[in-house]
Amino acid sequence: MARVLFVTSEAYPLLKTGGLADVSYSLPMALHELGQEVRVLMPAYRAALSKASELRCAALFEVHGQNVAVLEGRLAPNGPLLWLLQHPGYDRPGNPYMGPNAQPWPDNAERFALLCRAAVELAQDRAGLNWRADIVHGNDWQSGLVPALLSLEAQRPATVFTVHNLAYQGLYPYEIFQRLGLPHQLWSMHGVEFHGQMSFMKGGLAYADRITTVSPSYAQEIQTHEFGCGLEGLLRQRHEDLSGIVNGIDAEQWNPAIDLHLPAPFDADHLEGKAANKKALQLRLGLTPDANVPLFGFIGRLVQQKGIDLLLKAMPQLLDSPVQLAFLGSGEPLYEQSLLYWSRRFPRRVGVVLGFNEALSHQIEAGVDVFFMPSRFEPCGLNQMYSQRYGTLPIVRAVGGLVDTVVDVTPETLAAGKASGFVFNKASAKSLLKTVKRALALYQDKAAWSAVQRTGMRRDFSWQNSADRYLALYSQLRPEAVAVKSAPEELPAPVVEPPVKKRAVRRRKVEEA
Ligand code: ADP
Ligand code: GLC
Repeated sequence: MARVLFVTSEAYPLLKTGGLADVSYSLPMALHELGQEVRVLMPAYRAALSKASELRCAALFEVHGQNVAVLEGRLAPNGPLLWLLQHPGYDRPGNPYMGPNAQPWPDNAERFALLCRAAVELAQDRAGLNWRADIVHGNDWQSGLVPALLSLEAQRPATVFTVHNLAYQGLYPYEIFQRLGLPHQLWSMHGVEFHGQMSFMKGGLAYADRITTVSPSYAQEIQTHEFGCGLEGLLRQRHEDLSGIVNGIDAEQWNPAIDLHLPAPFDADHLEGKAANKKALQLRLGLTPDANVPLFGFIGRLVQQKGIDLLLKAMPQLLDSPVQLAFLGSGEPLYEQSLLYWSRRFPRRVGVVLGFNEALSHQIEAGVDVFFMPSRFEPCGLNQMYSQRYGTLPIVRAVGGLVDTVVDVTPETLAAGKASGFVFNKASAKSLLKTVKRALALYQDKAAWSAVQRTGMRRDFSWQNSADRYLALYSQLRPEAVAVKSAPEELPAPVVEPPVKKRAVRRRKVEEA
């Protein structure tokens, strides 16, 4: 049993701005069920405090001259321990990364350096908790300094660093590096220095024992100039320590048969319920309630990564076809305004909700026929998997996790019963529109359409396999700490009650006793 400190800047259900939060919930839960001793560390943002329950102050300690507290609770009632790091810098409303003006909080470097330093103190059992980590698993730039700082310790846990998105790197001027009082040994081109600036991301990439990213394709892509964001050289150099483990999805929260956000449940054998979801969504968004018109959806951050610009460019021609569109998202004002323009122009055909709305995101996945993910790059992406689970055919670009998780509709894949969505290559409105045409053609063939729906719904996107892979990685690093039953490849296909689960339950009982 490995003691794993999982460091993250967001975790569902406490605070979520994107997929990192979903992963920071599901992966620790899965590892916990596999019998590992996981602690999830994240900042005690005001919003997180309001969602967490039954917290107790477990530790008060000093980190680089600042007083912090660890509030301890559980990620979920039967889940791993949650450690919320309390400090005045986290006690503010709204988004964890930016202020109401959509600009990054001016003290982000300080706030996340503090998270990293506190993680080191906790991992090294210097916070008075009588707990020492075997593995510290950091995520994205906000925890990038953890492997860097730990590299300076004589005795240290093994470090794993997961890149969820290489495009956000936490870059700051050298003066900030000095102001943070970081050890000077870290300042080199082999360390956190990146073209004269300080890079939190490089702290993870240069110093972690193992680097992972969230899909095999993205692991390859980031070693190229096109996707490497200037870090491709370093990543190529470290390719032996770099691997891609595709994300799973939480198969309970995202299950149309039991999803409490939905007006009607459905599953692969009872698809009828999907029609009621479509109608409810059309009514909710003010669209004409028509069962036969193909309804397309989009949910996500309104930024270029997600290809929303391609979608907007395609809008006039898209609306020449008899379709309806449902959008949920927030992000760059230009994209928000453009979407509002289209919904004002076609109020009965284009529904737009700006903002973050968990319930509506489930209702859209359930209610639409087709889901758009025309991303320019996509480390993994979760919505294309939610879509397949909800009988919604995704249209995705052939990048990253999208190409790893969607099987394009072709005569061959259809015949083999493998097709689950539509994949296109070129990042252009023209390619996107061509793919929409393919989707509309298939939509006319009700039998083929529902066959593809069912294929998607029956696919296994659960965390089981991926969590096994992380565990195998931990065990390469700390074989003595991780007692894995067998290599993941040899594990039997996930069954309803895997034996490891029983073991985990027993262990929890012992803990509670
Ligand atoms: P990313 O992390 O790059 O934003 P992912 O596809 O991995 O992309 O994950 C995004 C997650 O955030 C999904 O669970 C998606 O449903 C959710 N999400 C994104 N925007 C919204 C929104 N406006 N309202 C509700 N959920 C959203
Ligand atoms: C990032 C990526 C997304 C991925 C998510 C969770 O935000 O943009 O593709 O699914 O992290 O790993």
